[in-house]
Amino acid sequence: MGNNKDNYRQIAIDGPAGAGKSTIARMIAEKLGFYYLDTGAMYRAVAYKALASGISLHDEHRVADLARHLTIQLDHSNKQSVFCDGEDITAKIRDVQVSRAVSTVASYPGVRERLVELQRLEAQKGNVVMDGRDIGTHVLPGAKIKIFLTASPEERAHRRYQEISKTNHDISFEQVLADLEKRDALDSQRQYAPLKPAEDAIIVDTTGLTIEGVVTKIIEIIRGDRS
Ligand code: CDP
Repeated sequence: MGNNKDNYRQIAIDGPAGAGKSTIARMIAEKLGFYYLDTGAMYRAVAYKALASGISLHDEHRVADLARHLTIQLDHSNKQSVFCDGEDITAKIRDVQVSRAVSTVASYPGVRERLVELQRLEAQKGNVVMDGRDIGTHVLPGAKIKIFLTASPEERAHRRYQEISKTNHDISFEQVLADLEKRDALDSQRQYAPLKPAEDAIIVDTTGLTIEGVVTKIIEIIRGDRS
């Protein structure tokens, strides 16, 4: 009632690791003709660059300085390529070492302020589906639709393990589960913009649901809100 398409320009999808955010956000963006922004890739780019430059992850000042001077380009058109200072780091940012480092760099306010500024600029370019940890609470608090995607830790670790074990044969399910729980704890316990559902977010538990099932459910939420 009284709503129009303009209300739907921003769709925020937050949730813990392995909940299926990026796959689902990308599919929803495609269905709606919105573009998709993977904010996790930006934090991963900072972590990758810190590791590659030999900067201590615990040196908050240097990591924040690095984030401020980094050029990050996300290619929305095809396979979500990520370029950092001109280098294609799309595959590298998915490395286990980067996954283990990312929550530390993401806890620094100086890093977050810089990346949030870039994310908000991106949101001004048009209709967007953005996924992350703090999109509904902090980056786009005015987003009309806020989804908090979750699933049991075991199911999330299982999904992640299936993905990772295609290329990394040295990692066990137990390690993936332990890494994921550690990252969840760091992300939800940090002081600045922690992982948590926005007050007006709709919680979608994806345990036992297929990807298509989740996409359909979210599209119904979006359409329901529009009527
Ligand atoms: O895809 P996955 O769930 O493994 O994580 P991601 O979305 O690539 O995010 C990687 C990490 O970046 C998270 O564990 C957070 O530490 C951080 N992050 C964040 O703090 N805020 C965001 N909006 C997005 C990611």
